[in-house]
Amino acid sequence: MPHNYSLGINTKTSFCIYSSLIIMNRIQAKKRIEKLKAVISYHRYLYHVLDKQEISDEALDSLKHELYKLEQQYPDLLTPDSPTQRVGGEPLKEFKKVEHKTPMLSMEDIFSQEELKDWENYLKRLLPGTSFNYFCEPKIDGFAISLIYKNGVLIQGSTRGDGKIGENVTQNLKTIESIPLKLKLSQDPRLTKEVDIRGEVYMEKKDFEKFNKKRKQLNEQPFANPRNLAAGSIRQLDSKLMASRPLKFLAYDIASDLGQTTHSQGHQILLSLGFKTELGKKCANLQEIQKYWQKVSQKRKNLAFQIDGIVINVENNSFFKKLGTAGKSPRGARAFKFFPEQATTIIEDVKFQIGRTGAITPVALLKPIKIGGTTVSKATLHNEDEIKRLGVKIGDTIIVERAGDVIPAVEKVLPELRDGKEKRIQMPTICPVCKTPLIKPKGEVIWRCPNKNCFAVKRELLEHFASKKGFNIDGLGPKIINKLLEENLIWSPCDFFHLSKGDLSPLERFAEKSDENLIQAIQKSKTIPLSRFIYALGIRFVGEETAIVLAQYFGSLKKIMEANKQELSAVPDVGPRVSNSIFNWFREKDNQKLITDLISAGIRILAPAKISRKLSGKTFVLTGTLNSMTREQTKNKIRFLGGDVPNSISQKTMFLVVGKNPGETKTKKAKKVGIKIIHEKEFLKMIK
Ligand code: IVH
Repeated sequence: MPHNYSLGINTKTSFCIYSSLIIMNRIQAKKRIEKLKAVISYHRYLYHVLDKQEISDEALDSLKHELYKLEQQYPDLLTPDSPTQRVGGEPLKEFKKVEHKTPMLSMEDIFSQEELKDWENYLKRLLPGTSFNYFCEPKIDGFAISLIYKNGVLIQGSTRGDGKIGENVTQNLKTIESIPLKLKLSQDPRLTKEVDIRGEVYMEKKDFEKFNKKRKQLNEQPFANPRNLAAGSIRQLDSKLMASRPLKFLAYDIASDLGQTTHSQGHQILLSLGFKTELGKKCANLQEIQKYWQKVSQKRKNLAFQIDGIVINVENNSFFKKLGTAGKSPRGARAFKFFPEQATTIIEDVKFQIGRTGAITPVALLKPIKIGGTTVSKATLHNEDEIKRLGVKIGDTIIVERAGDVIPAVEKVLPELRDGKEKRIQMPTICPVCKTPLIKPKGEVIWRCPNKNCFAVKRELLEHFASKKGFNIDGLGPKIINKLLEENLIWSPCDFFHLSKGDLSPLERFAEKSDENLIQAIQKSKTIPLSRFIYALGIRFVGEETAIVLAQYFGSLKKIMEANKQELSAVPDVGPRVSNSIFNWFREKDNQKLITDLISAGIRILAPAKISRKLSGKTFVLTGTLNSMTREQTKNKIRFLGGDVPNSISQKTMFLVVGKNPGETKTKKAKKVGIKIIHEKEFLKMIK
């Protein structure tokens, strides 16, 4: 049977996100429990009572789970005041209190397919012989409210509060345009009695960003996320302030009987009553739920508002009712959360990595922790300034974030959990590999090893050269490069092309077949597109994108080598810092020799395909986001094709390209002055 965690956490999540639990004896556990309780209590107070947030929900969940696990391990240390024994927060005093006739419940979370299966098995045990259908919809990251309508007219709006008693915030909610003051079909006899509508108040991501930008300009503290802003606004005593905030309402449930027999019918009724609602998806089995979860999880970033999972309801309302509640949560519903992007863990040590440009990067070695389905054991601390900003020490409990493909980074330190044994992080003054004194040029934040012949710098450069985005030499990974370097078989990238089978076979673990394969892969890599050749050189600030832009723009290596700073700066997205770096790189004798050597080693550089200038003389303005490419990619594409993309509409503008969530001002202006408005499909045709 699933646990009824009053904090909405579930033991079975442990395999997924929380693995940094520390084995400790009773005395250590007692101390840790006390500290955890104090910290969690502090953050819960901020969040639930004051609508403030200093650490993410995921990080707080991670701490709660550690506490929960410790209390399970030492049940005699569990006290009634533990945050694991409590739900919700007290309503603020300023608003009138409101009693919810039907309680506003919370929901248990699940994080995996296994937990989904466990839940269905549990339902089947409770109602044997029943075959269940489900209704799935996005779980909006907003603020739950209840709206009471009588005779079809809004008479009261309230917050959830502790689930039984909330706050009367009717005046504030009335300012939200998407909340109907009078229901459609208000003459329907079913609407004469009180109807209780449940849903979420939220702010769209783009509005949130705009709002925060303005606050920063006014020197006011920005909000941590759209949910905090929604919550803070609803609890504003001055409803005029609330009215200036573009909040929205999305309905997801009717807590009254309007004759609906299924959850999806409920949504249809909500729609017909004039509410914004997500129509979700009926799922006949767990596979379909999993598919929906995956689909929504992938679309998540492109949605206008924040979501943190999907909500699954048993579709048949009479089964849902029969299943009842366990504690504060309905047994017939679950929140199937997306992978979290943050968790807490401990810094065990810090080491200093040397990059291909000699940059020294402090890297935190972590007690391994699962985030978003993968184990994270290292996180970047970026540089010395970042260490100072975070105030981080070895032994600290930290919040680590891994969002998408981005390198995991230390987000925040929780100094409240220190026990006094933490150690200061000492930045090195000499290169940990070649012992050369490190340098930090004026105005820069990064320490560097200036020795071009430093073993570590060489190794990084060679790895970069052979990597997928560079020469893409199959089988030439970091381990082999290290070995080849150690054996003095390579020193410059050119040396790869002079290796022979005989050089490799004496190396440990090099079977005949694999040395043959590697030599073949090296030979194959000799013909290379210009953009990948430029990337492979390892010029500072020249990543994959810039290399592609340079190749397209100049069309040949010779032209790039001869370009002056001004010419380089004219390339889209190449600023003075990048053009300086490119210009200087090609002026260095060693680098010029490298290029000559590579060419004499037989490297054949392929010029990029001729680009058409079909958009030449055409000016585009963009608004909203396209599905198929980012704004930057769209701009680059237009520029490549000879077009112009200023930020705002002028007399020159010929087309307004409209994506999702377009800005109203641009669209209005374009219509007013008769600019052609085109949508993604048409635009893609033009650039094909
Ligand atoms: S159904 C038992 N549907 O999630 C309450 N809730 O973690 C079930 N939420 O308090 C409500 N989107 O504020 C439901 N589509 C959705 C939702 C949703 C967001 C919130 C709601 C609830 C919380 C539970």
